[in-house]
Amino acid sequence: MASSSTHANEPVLRVQGLSKTLGGVRLFEDVSLTLNSGQSLAVVGESGSGKSTLLHLMAGLDQPDQGTVQWHGQQLAKLTQAKLAALRIAHVGLVFQAYYLMPHLNALQNVELPFLLAGKQPEAKRALALLNMVGMAHKAHAFPRELSGGEQQRVAIARALALRPPLILADEPTGNLDEDNAEKVLQVLLNACSQEGSSLVMVTHSTHAAGALAQQLRLAQHHLSVGR
Ligand SMILES: Nc1ncnc2c1ncn2[C@@H]1O[C@H](COP(=O)(O)OP(=O)(O)OP(=O)(O)O)[C@@H](O)[C@H]1O
Ligand SMILES: [Mg+2]
Repeated sequence: MASSSTHANEPVLRVQGLSKTLGGVRLFEDVSLTLNSGQSLAVVGESGSGKSTLLHLMAGLDQPDQGTVQWHGQQLAKLTQAKLAALRIAHVGLVFQAYYLMPHLNALQNVELPFLLAGKQPEAKRALALLNMVGMAHKAHAFPRELSGGEQQRVAIARALALRPPLILADEPTGNLDEDNAEKVLQVLLNACSQEGSSLVMVTHSTHAAGALAQQLRLAQHHLSVGR
């Protein structure tokens, strides 16, 4: 629900001065960036450099040591846990490195789940269309245990897009996929930016995928550089 401090014309995501230390190691320091509607950012860097940690901070699932994260001008640290959780359902489509599908729901029901979480009527047609876009319509009624890792990953991507979220945060969404399916997923995510106006942050080890996004943020051991 919009409040006086929330404005749709504010950036979809604004990160200011973000720093995080884990296990005594300063992963990154003073990260600032802004994403407006339709803009995309690739987060790249070696394993352990803090990419997933940064995505968790952007999702409000973890707190920074310093700095702020805002969605449409709303500063996450100022929200109650309940408000943050409710806002996250509406604002963010999340694809985790581990996909977290609900084991007792089939693929279609997993993609419909965000509607229920948002208190909406599930849109089976939209859910099926999304499964089709990621090449999974033929397994709509399969349960996660009956799906391969890459198949589960594609269902998780369809689920993340179900509510047409302003912000998509995807952690290596093409990591487990063959070239054809990786390309399919990349195009589905880019289409969400160009056609639905979503903003996308995507962690990737693929130089091809990173190159398809408008901006890149590189995390490195104690070094940080932002560039095109
Ligand atoms: N809860 C924690 N306590 C201590 N250290 C942690 C914790 N979570 C993560 N780390 C460490 O923080 C560093 C960054 O982890 P992170 O998962 O963000 O890396 P990443 O860039 O996503 O790596 P990958 O490409 O392998 O997924 C790693 O060295 C990891 O071991
Ligand atoms: Mg990671």
